[in-house]
Amino acid sequence: MTGDGNPMHTDPRQVVASDWPADGTADDKLLFLLNYAVLAPSILNAQPWHFAVGDGVVELSEDRGRRLKVVDPEGREAAISCGAALFNLCVAARSFGLAPDVELLGEAAAPAVARVRLGQQSKPASLEDRQLRDAIPERRTSRGGFEERKVPREVLGRLEHAAAAEGARFAWTDAVGRRKEIAALVAEAERAHLSNPDYRNELRDWLLDRRRERHESLREAYYRMGTLAGRTAIHPRGSDEVTMEAASLGRAFASEESAAARLQALVAASPVVALVSTDHDTPTDWLRAGVALERVLLTATAEGLSASFLNAPTELRRLRNRLSSLLGAEGHPQVLMRLGYHPPVSATPRRPLAEVVSLRTSSV
Ligand SMILES: Cc1cc2nc3c(=O)[nH]c(=O)nc-3n(C[C@H](O)[C@H](O)[C@H](O)COP(=O)(O)O)c2cc1C
Repeated sequence: MTGDGNPMHTDPRQVVASDWPADGTADDKLLFLLNYAVLAPSILNAQPWHFAVGDGVVELSEDRGRRLKVVDPEGREAAISCGAALFNLCVAARSFGLAPDVELLGEAAAPAVARVRLGQQSKPASLEDRQLRDAIPERRTSRGGFEERKVPREVLGRLEHAAAAEGARFAWTDAVGRRKEIAALVAEAERAHLSNPDYRNELRDWLLDRRRERHESLREAYYRMGTLAGRTAIHPRGSDEVTMEAASLGRAFASEESAAARLQALVAASPVVALVSTDHDTPTDWLRAGVALERVLLTATAEGLSASFLNAPTELRRLRNRLSSLLGAEGHPQVLMRLGYHPPVSATPRRPLAEVVSLRTSSV
């Protein structure tokens, strides 16, 4: 791993399994595993998590200061993001021969959501856990157009199993007519979002805040945002790489009609559209949805598939039932995505551990 030797100062993206601190303390191990946790996807790359580490236990909390109040007022997608981080932490722990004991804390403990204690595993790590761990740094959201290549049914079956193993459902369709109907629903949701000035302002302010976090002056941030917006306008479709910020900027400043039409075309042309849903819709279900989502995404990555999220229809209460019925899915829709094959895209940055971890003891 790169850096000054302090595990809190390294770039999580540089994590490599061969650096595993086999002889370290339980807290050294937890800190190492958190490099995997923070590579989870999160709504608008908000990374809305905090980890308190001490005595071989890590407590995961939602960082409510990073919740998107217009698009995610109840914190559903923040909880899904935390769930994805929780899955990464657990699968990485198992891959190094540890048995994570996970306690979901329920609403009364909010903003804390889960506690994980490391225990020794009696059997060796499974091949699947090692493959899923190795997929963590490889997984990226791909926002461009996918290749015209069918996704084999047995691969989709593995994704169904992945969601079911974590108590959620994965419903999918590759039928052209159905994909078009879902694409129209996604476009309707996109138009509804972008015609809401509060939504656009939140998107723009969020992006500006992230640039300030990287110590850019306001002037520089606007300049870069303008450049990115221009680049998005020049490369609106095809398999060109579209970064998270460029895509968000495109949405923040484009007309709702052009943004919706672009998204509709991308969805209709994607080989598979899929939905992760849960039986119930409490904060604990959202966390579980995130755990299942990440297991699905890592399984897909290990199979050479790429995924892109289309979550607008799940964010509008009036569209959620229609979305479920279009996919023949039972329960409550949590994450809508498209899947297909795409050349590798560059990685989005992550905050260093020092910003998201606090140590509860002086043992590290
Ligand atoms: C609950 C949730 C909802 C998301 N919704 C969208 C979305 O609607 N559109 C999109 O382009 N990306 C969406 N994303 C993907 C994030 O923007 C992405 O995970 C983040 O930028 C980090 O990039 P990475 O996935 O490549 O690591 C979502 C992610 C999560 C966890």
